[in-house]
Amino acid sequence: MSTYPALRLRRTRVSPWSRALHAESVLTPADLIWPLFVTEGAEEEPIASLPGVSRWSVAQIVERAREAAVLGIPAVALFPNTPEHLRTDDGREAVNPDNLMCRAIRAIKDEVPGVGVLTDVALDPYTAHGHDGLVDAAGYVLNDATADVLTEQALVQAAAGADIVAPSDMMDGRVGLIRAALEAGGHHNVQIMAYAAKYASAFYGPFRDAVGSRGRLKGDKKTYQMDPANAEEALREVAADLDEGADSVMVKPGLAYLDIVRRVKERFEVPVFAYQVSGEYAMIEHAAAAGAGDRDALVLETLMAFKRAGCSGVLTYHAAHAARLLGA
Ligand code: PBG
Repeated sequence: MSTYPALRLRRTRVSPWSRALHAESVLTPADLIWPLFVTEGAEEEPIASLPGVSRWSVAQIVERAREAAVLGIPAVALFPNTPEHLRTDDGREAVNPDNLMCRAIRAIKDEVPGVGVLTDVALDPYTAHGHDGLVDAAGYVLNDATADVLTEQALVQAAAGADIVAPSDMMDGRVGLIRAALEAGGHHNVQIMAYAAKYASAFYGPFRDAVGSRGRLKGDKKTYQMDPANAEEALREVAADLDEGADSVMVKPGLAYLDIVRRVKERFEVPVFAYQVSGEYAMIEHAAAAGAGDRDALVLETLMAFKRAGCSGVLTYHAAHAARLLGA
């Protein structure tokens, strides 16, 4: 190893061509998954706490999928805003093969088959109480009973054409049950991206507005989502989901948990994704609006950080904007 002045680390940074040549990570539109909110009716519905993000009708969702295809974004992630009258304590609308989610999946797969469709497996957009699962009289989210409903939900989504089912509920054992049901149902090539390390986070607020669960949520999700203090536990969650048949794993939220991404990547050497969640998106938008930073630069820098940390890809509400910035 040389030392200064033979060693001048600034030498390779002098010019744009040299910086390009020495870049250790790359960010392209192919690294992005675009989360989209779908709603009943025909109108676009802007979401106040997610400036620049809207809920779209099924017909409009197809247009967003077309946009993704043009921009080189490989996949979209769908989340429904279930109509009020269909939200029940047992969340049974989640397993209705004609629910909003399934209609959106079918519409995209009919019209834009080349774009991957990732679906959220959890009950919160369908329950009256806003939890991801079934609750007992004391309000505790029941593990095994919930996992059975989630398995049915994943099957219904796969039958509608979902390419990747993504359980985001944090119930124990659900990946194994879902994998077995998919195999038994002939859905051998439907992938499972497990929200393996999902933390009980304050960064999900705007998302809960978007799917209409914020006001109704009783209590918090700390009996199933992880404690932000824990990292070893995240590795155990990932190990369990991989053992049960997950094709890829996700860490969520993103930026505050890049240490988890790195540890998971180093330990398991499997595809790792991160979700730059709604509150992270909103922080960038509000910081930029307040003049605290350049929006485009903040978007690209944070997305590059996920790649550097070891992510195969990132779920981000900035996907279309970032793809345009990347010259798509
Ligand atoms: C629900 C789910 C949540 C998100 C994705 N799936 C919210 C939650 O767990 O309360 C959050 C995504 C975001 O904030 O952008 N199962």
